[in-house]
Parts: sequence; C-alpha cells; structure tokens
Amino acid sequence: MEFHGTMRINERGHLEIGGCDTVELARVFGTPLYVLDEELFRENCRAYQRAFAKENGRVLYAGKAALNLAICRLLDEEGLGLDVVSGGELYTALQARFPASRIYFHGNNKSPAEIRMGLEAGVARFVVDNLDELEVLSSLATELGREAEILLRLTPGIEAHTHEYIRTGQIDSKFGLVVPNGQAMEGVRRSLALPGIILRGLHCHIGSQIFELEPYAEATRVLLGFAREARDATGWTIEELDLGGGLGIYYHEGDDPPTVDSLAETIFGAVREAAETYGLPVPLVTVEPGRSIAGPAGTTLYTVGTIKEIPGVRTYVAVDGGMGDNPRPALYGAVYEACVANRPLGEGETTVSLAGRCCESGDMLIWNVVLPAVKRGDIVAVSCTGAYTYSMASNYNRFPRPAMVLVREGQAELIVRRESYADLIRHDLVPARLRETTL
Ligand code: LLP
Repeated sequence: MEFHGTMRINERGHLEIGGCDTVELARVFGTPLYVLDEELFRENCRAYQRAFAKENGRVLYAGKAALNLAICRLLDEEGLGLDVVSGGELYTALQARFPASRIYFHGNNKSPAEIRMGLEAGVARFVVDNLDELEVLSSLATELGREAEILLRLTPGIEAHTHEYIRTGQIDSKFGLVVPNGQAMEGVRRSLALPGIILRGLHCHIGSQIFELEPYAEATRVLLGFAREARDATGWTIEELDLGGGLGIYYHEGDDPPTVDSLAETIFGAVREAAETYGLPVPLVTVEPGRSIAGPAGTTLYTVGTIKEIPGVRTYVAVDGGMGDNPRPALYGAVYEACVANRPLGEGETTVSLAGRCCESGDMLIWNVVLPAVKRGDIVAVSCTGAYTYSMASNYNRFPRPAMVLVREGQAELIVRRESYADLIRHDLVPARLRETTL
C-alpha cells in the first residue's frame, strides 16, 4: 500500500496516521472506523487555493464527496467555498456556520422547498440545471423579494474516460442544458428575461476520477464558444466559468493522476486562449473538487474475522465492514489498496481477497490483495477512502454506520459517532393494530 499524507510506521511497527497509532484508534473507537488525516485534508485544500486563487479563480469543495459539521469547519478555516446539492448538505453547512455567501447550490431536481431554503439562506449562486428550475427559482425569488445569482449548467458534449456511471459531460445525460440543440441558448434568454434572476455565468462538470487534462481545455472552449454566441444573440457577457470537479486520485498501483497545478495551468491557459479567440473578457474561473481533496485523506480500519480458504481457488478474508461503509467496489468495480495496520511489514505475504459481511457475493472490498499472513483480530487499513464512502454509506443488512475520527499531531477526535442499534430503529413505527399481536 502506498502511504499518503502523515502515514508512517511507528516505533511499535504499526501504521500511524496523524501521529496516532491506528491499532490504538481501532481499540478505542472500534471498527469499522473512518480515519481522516486533517493535515492532508488541509494540504489538499491549500494546493487548490494556491493553484486557483492566485489567478482569477475560486475553489468550492464538492460536499457530496464527504460532508459533516467538522469538515465544514475545516473548509471554512481554509477559505474554500462549498458546493451543495441538497437541502441536507445545505443544512449541514449552515449548522456548521459555513458562510452562505460561499455556497453554490447544485442539483438536477431541487425541490421548491430546497430552493426557498437556499434563497432564504442567501447562497452565493444557484447552479440552474434546467428551464423548469429557472421558472420556479424566478417565482420564488420574486415572492421573497430576493435576487438569485445563477450559473447555467450546460452539457458540453464531452466524453471523459471514466466509469459510465460517473460520466456527466455527454449529451445523453440527465444533467444540464444541451448546447447543440438550442436549449442552452433558450436558458440564457429566459434567464435574462425572468425577474429575480441574475445570470453570472456558465457551469459544466464532465465527470469524476478523470486522469486526462485535455477534456477540461475542450470544455472551456465549448463553454466560451457558446458564451460568445450568447453575447452575439443577446448582448449578455459571461462573468464566471465553473468547470466542476473531477480530478482523479491515486487508488492503486499504476494510477498516476495529474497534479492540481497542472490542472490549473491547463484550465487557465485554455480560458485565456479561448477568451481571446472569442473576444470575451477573461471570466472568474471556479472549480469544484471533491474526491481530490477528501479521498487521499481518508483511511478505513477494519477488524479481520472469518478466514475462509478454498485450496487451489482463493482465500477470503472477511472484515467487519464492506459495501455498507464503502459501496464503491460493488458499484463501480473500484480497486483499493490495503495493509495490515498492526503488522504492515509482516512476513509471509500471500494473495487474499478482502470480503465484506453483507449478504451479497458482490460485497467484496478488494479482490486479490497481497498482505502478510493475516489472522482473526488483525486490523486492516484500506487507504484513499475519504471520498464517496461515508457519504454513500447505507444501513443495508441493518449494520450501523461507522464512526469517523479526525487525527492530527497525535490527537484523535470523534467527528461522527458510530450508529447504535437504537439508531437503526429510531424512525420505525408500529401501527397500533400490530402492537398488541402476540406470538
Ligand atoms: N461538481 C459537480 C457538479 C459534480 O457532480 C461532482 C461530482 C463534483 C463537482 C465533484 O467531483 P469530484 O472532484 O469529486 O470528482 N460516487 C462516485 C462519484 C460521483 C461524482 C458525482 N459528481 C464515485 O464514488 O466515484
């Protein structure tokens, strides 16, 4: 397993993160446990701020990757903005006293109640996904006597090479206004005509876990080319260009993602060039990274339970978590790395497969991972699990969702409590007629 951030092997020969012995973390907080490396999380925020804020740029963290009150506080301290996609994410941010003036509200089907919530909070931007939303936003903004500053989300028709479920830039997508068929232009016209709407710019998001930079340059050209057409047609001038998130991260051997600096260089280069080509002023450039900030900063700890050896076939090493806390391998065939936290340099390396404990054959965390000889009670650490794990976790099979700890300089602080069995039935109700039934 490649080490990230503050990971190292300590004097006891254990994996350490943020100055905390992971075996000790597992003992104190239990497993499965999400461990968030504060220093690396902050460093990833700063890498984006350095690369984008130095020019005319703005960085919003995509809350969908991982969001809770403590994470909102870290983001606020680092001066980032926040992209939220639901009333729940917005509520979390507001409860954490994250300034609404740095929040962008996304979503392809915002409910009127969510739109109202965003307007009342005074979010910085609504990223409007479709014409229907535009009408609702306009009427609610008018009713509340507010003005909504918006970006229009466009589908630029770009196919980035990533898993089809997380590809979003192509024309056949549930997201955004299509450019070639005139829908996007209709969006501009209506935005300019409707009361309570101020059109600031254009948005697109071409996908996630992207390792190539050229699609960002291509998206820039498409959006600014469209901005030029829109200016010719309506006189409106683009002020902001939001290119979404998507930068890939290292998950396993062979992954070689571009740096944040090279992403910034590509984007700013393409923006300058396209602005000149189309005779437009250079707009404010916004990016929305989620995975590349949270992903590498997270590690999940598990305890090894049953080991099932099928001679000549494979050895299944079952741990106390799985698709409930990390659905990515089952959903996308995502591949992770792991080590034995209490013996990262142990002897007797063998190839095993890490199994989850849900009632699904597909609940496998890692197929064919090389680990030192493993036994019941060992602590296994799976790296780069900071993004799209906790935020996509479920209670399938009624397993309580794990806790999350924030580690830094030898201190570990609980930032999400482990769910209890009582939490699992908290919302269950039994109709009166069933309560009296005896067996
Ligand atoms: N902005 C928008 C509008 C997005 O839809 C997304 C991600 C992002 C920003 C952040 O993208 P990132 O930098 O994290 O790649 N559950 C999938 C990923 C879904 C991404 C959805 N949108 C996974 O686990 O791989």
